[in-house]
Amino acid sequence: MSQHTLLALFALAFAHAVDAQSPTTTSLEPLASKTFTWPNIPYQVTGDQGGERGPQFGYNLCNSTTENQQSLCQTAFLNNIADFCMWSSSETNDTVGESEAREVAWCTQPGHGTRVIPPGAITGAQWLYAKNYVQVVGFIDQTKVGLNADDEGGELDPHGDDEQGNPIGGLFLTNGFGQSSSSFQSFVSSGNVTTTNTTYTQVIEWIDFIGGGMFCMKLCNPSDPDDVNLCQHIYDEVGCTYNAVADYPNINGTFEVCDSDDMADPGIFTTNGQLTTWHQPFSGTFSVPYQTSSLASSNCVTYSSEQLFAAAATDSAVATITGSASVTGSGSGAHGSATGSGSGSGSGSTSGAQSGAAARSYESNALPYIAVGFFTMIATMVTIIA
Ligand SMILES: *[C@@H]1O[C@H](CO)[C@@H](O)[C@H](O)[C@H]1NC(C)=O
Ligand SMILES: *[C@@H]1O[C@H](CO)[C@@H](O)[C@H](O)[C@H]1NC(C)=O
Ligand SMILES: *[C@@H]1O[C@H](CO)[C@@H](O)[C@H](O)[C@H]1NC(C)=O
Ligand SMILES: *[C@@H]1O[C@H](CO)[C@@H](O)[C@H](O)[C@H]1NC(C)=O
Ligand SMILES: *[C@@H]1O[C@H](CO)[C@@H](O)[C@H](O)[C@H]1NC(C)=O
Repeated sequence: MSQHTLLALFALAFAHAVDAQSPTTTSLEPLASKTFTWPNIPYQVTGDQGGERGPQFGYNLCNSTTENQQSLCQTAFLNNIADFCMWSSSETNDTVGESEAREVAWCTQPGHGTRVIPPGAITGAQWLYAKNYVQVVGFIDQTKVGLNADDEGGELDPHGDDEQGNPIGGLFLTNGFGQSSSSFQSFVSSGNVTTTNTTYTQVIEWIDFIGGGMFCMKLCNPSDPDDVNLCQHIYDEVGCTYNAVADYPNINGTFEVCDSDDMADPGIFTTNGQLTTWHQPFSGTFSVPYQTSSLASSNCVTYSSEQLFAAAATDSAVATITGSASVTGSGSGAHGSATGSGSGSGSGSTSGAQSGAAARSYESNALPYIAVGFFTMIATMVTIIA
């Protein structure tokens, strides 16, 4: 299947994944109201107070004894393009729909007391240092992190109907706020991308999608009063392209870091000069009434996967279980347009079409070079199978 076709399917992919949020109330203390200061993290932030879906599956206190490929660590980091984690299953051939409450952290680097994503599993990624969030999106062989190859996936976030989070008790931290493409470049030049700044910020509002061979994680800065809206979690059916705007058609096969503007809050768009809010319906077939806006990025620098993920490649626990693999990421100046359509059927029916257009110009005579990204995704028809 061509990459373009897969990209088109990706928008549909999340249509089946997880039931839409329905309004319920709970007396449990919401995960998003629990704050911690690293390294003062309890063994479990939720424990057996997880309500009907509980107890919490794994633990938050993670260290060298919990660092192995059976780890049930549920404290994740999103530090930079060389050092980030995603939620995924602790089992094999699983689905996000089945495992969302019990997912564990899978990280690109050893050192966080977690499972390590096998080298070569991630085939391309783009990291954005936006004004009020850090974001990484990319392509992955999701069978290497416990998922069925065909799983269309879904959204993990610190909410859910019972406000206990998916995964229940999952924490996300970062040392990436206030950093930039330039500071990351200096970091790489220092020769050790695994040196960790342990002044971590606990991120209250974040989103994490995985499925269809792709992932996206966006962590909104808690010092931004708009973090709840910028990392809104109610658009779980429309996938990465609406929740984490990035240059999707040009990412697989490259590893790139950029500075960027903030995207518009998901669901907010301008029509006839007026700001309009779209809410994802709870059920039924709908089309998204807008395209995501272009996002200006700058100071884009590409890296090879070896520069970023060397530590995972030599980590004996990972190598023993998975064998070794390597992939070479190389930057490309070729940016065209992507169009595609896909259809599928389940207990209801889903049909849709998506096309993306990308055009970027590089000033390619020197590093760091400047890139301005423009990408749009047209409205996508989605059916929620409730
Ligand atoms: C990304 O690239 C890899 C390696 O070239 C390929 O196997 C995979 O199918 C691509 N993923 C998508 C979603 O196009
Ligand atoms: C390491 O983590 C495990 C699991 O959370 C915990 O039981 C243990 O006490 C921790 N060890 C230290 C030294 O913190
Ligand atoms: C994964 O699960 C699917 C559906 O249950 C099954 O058809 C497939 O054979 C399984 N694949 C592996 C590698 O176990
Ligand atoms: C470490 O991270 C904190 C918080 O993100 C930041 O303020 C500080 O400048 C960082 N230190 C270095 C040396 O990068
Ligand atoms: C890189 O830094 C980490 C953390 O400080 C350290 O454990 C590791 O040994 C260093 N690696 C190299 C090659 O210096």
